[in-house]
Amino acid sequence: MHDIPAPDVAAADHTGGQTVTPWLVVVLAVILLSGGLFGYDQGVISGALHGIRATFSLSALLIEVVTSWVTLGALFGALVAGELADRLGRKRAVLIAGIVFTIGSLVEALAPGTAVLVGGRLIVGLGVGIAAVAAPLYAAELSPSALRGRFISAYQLAVTAGIFIAYLVDGWLSKNDSWRWMLGLSVAPGLMLIAVALVTPRSPRWLIRAGRLAEAAAEMRRIRPGADPQPEIDSIVAVRAQEKGPASWGEVFGGQWRRPLLVGVGLAVFQQITGINAVIYYADQIFAAAGFATQSSQTTVTTWAVGGVNMAATFIAIAFIDRLGRRKLLLAGLLGMGVSLAVVGASFEFITTTASGRGAPGLAGIATLVALVVFITSFAFSMGPVVWTVINEIFPAHIRGRAVAVATAVNWASAFIVSQMFLSLIDAIGDSFTFWLFALFCGLGWVWIFYAVPETKGRSLEQIQQIWKAKGA
Ligand code: BGC
Repeated sequence: MHDIPAPDVAAADHTGGQTVTPWLVVVLAVILLSGGLFGYDQGVISGALHGIRATFSLSALLIEVVTSWVTLGALFGALVAGELADRLGRKRAVLIAGIVFTIGSLVEALAPGTAVLVGGRLIVGLGVGIAAVAAPLYAAELSPSALRGRFISAYQLAVTAGIFIAYLVDGWLSKNDSWRWMLGLSVAPGLMLIAVALVTPRSPRWLIRAGRLAEAAAEMRRIRPGADPQPEIDSIVAVRAQEKGPASWGEVFGGQWRRPLLVGVGLAVFQQITGINAVIYYADQIFAAAGFATQSSQTTVTTWAVGGVNMAATFIAIAFIDRLGRRKLLLAGLLGMGVSLAVVGASFEFITTTASGRGAPGLAGIATLVALVVFITSFAFSMGPVVWTVINEIFPAHIRGRAVAVATAVNWASAFIVSQMFLSLIDAIGDSFTFWLFALFCGLGWVWIFYAVPETKGRSLEQIQQIWKAKGA
């Protein structure tokens, strides 16, 4: 049902082939560092809060602000990034993200008081938001079609590695409450990102759109020495000629590209409302409720069962995304996520009705742990990497920067809402129904993806663009 013949550009994927050249390794480094910054920042705050609270004697409200304003900054950064990436180019947007992020990390680490700390969190968020748009976009445009899923999944792998490393760093530094080091350590990858972004190639697709064909050809020869860049340039120029001039925000939201925008935004929302960040942010508390009584048992189980498994299972996506395709992974993953969430809900029912004196986790606690491992695994090979992959490949070139920015900002906004509401939801409807609600969203997401999301595996970005034309987007 989702096959599209695209004869006009079908043979034009010059990026086809599977060779990873030295410059593609540099591209990969940009992707890995950008994802790593995102993930480290996502994971580190839980461990740093204790020390921050002690140093500045923060109120509950300020603790929430310190925790969540990074997300606000990221939301704003994501929106700005679309404009930056379209106007200045993908490479420069990544460079700016690295600079902003590094400044923000320094401000956080050296903050003399709460106001500066919150300012630092906002600046870091801005950098994270810009990187979260620019890096996968850059990956989508620079990678060979046959490897594109893997390249963008490498971004997700780096996100999960960042979260995992942050959990480990938190564990090591927690003994002496060195929160300044926990936050400040991210200056190192920030500086590395700046260094790599200075030398990495520019996106030929962006250069072609800017009418700079000779520079695009030069970058293509650099990325793929020995291959003739002309066929690809011709195909991109041909697709570009069918477009009606430069895109405005009006065109991004206009009727013509409604379908890809719905697919991108829908995937962004489903990635969050199926519960991943409720688990990432509140894992300690979930495990505490499931009977893991001591702080150290909670930290250990969170680090390995959530952080470690999340990272390890992302390799499944890297191995299969370009072979099995996006849809199969999404549908299989959502099934695993839905079933495991239903089990977590059921075991909480059991825990609350039978728990008497919690010392060690009982059967229901162990069932919760196993089900959460299945949940994280299922997310990590599907809704994590595949959502970012599809969001970055479905839009036509002239609206790509802005449309990806919109989908990414919606993703951050959904993450913010879910993480803010999770504890209140548990208060209002109980643990079990909260997890069952997430399970229900997995079911809805499955049906929607089955009908709405096309397979993009193995097609060039220009061929994917034809899907919407063929279907009358
Ligand atoms: C999501 C994040 C999430 C992370 C977990 C990403 O794809 O966008 O919200 O925390 O995966 O691995």
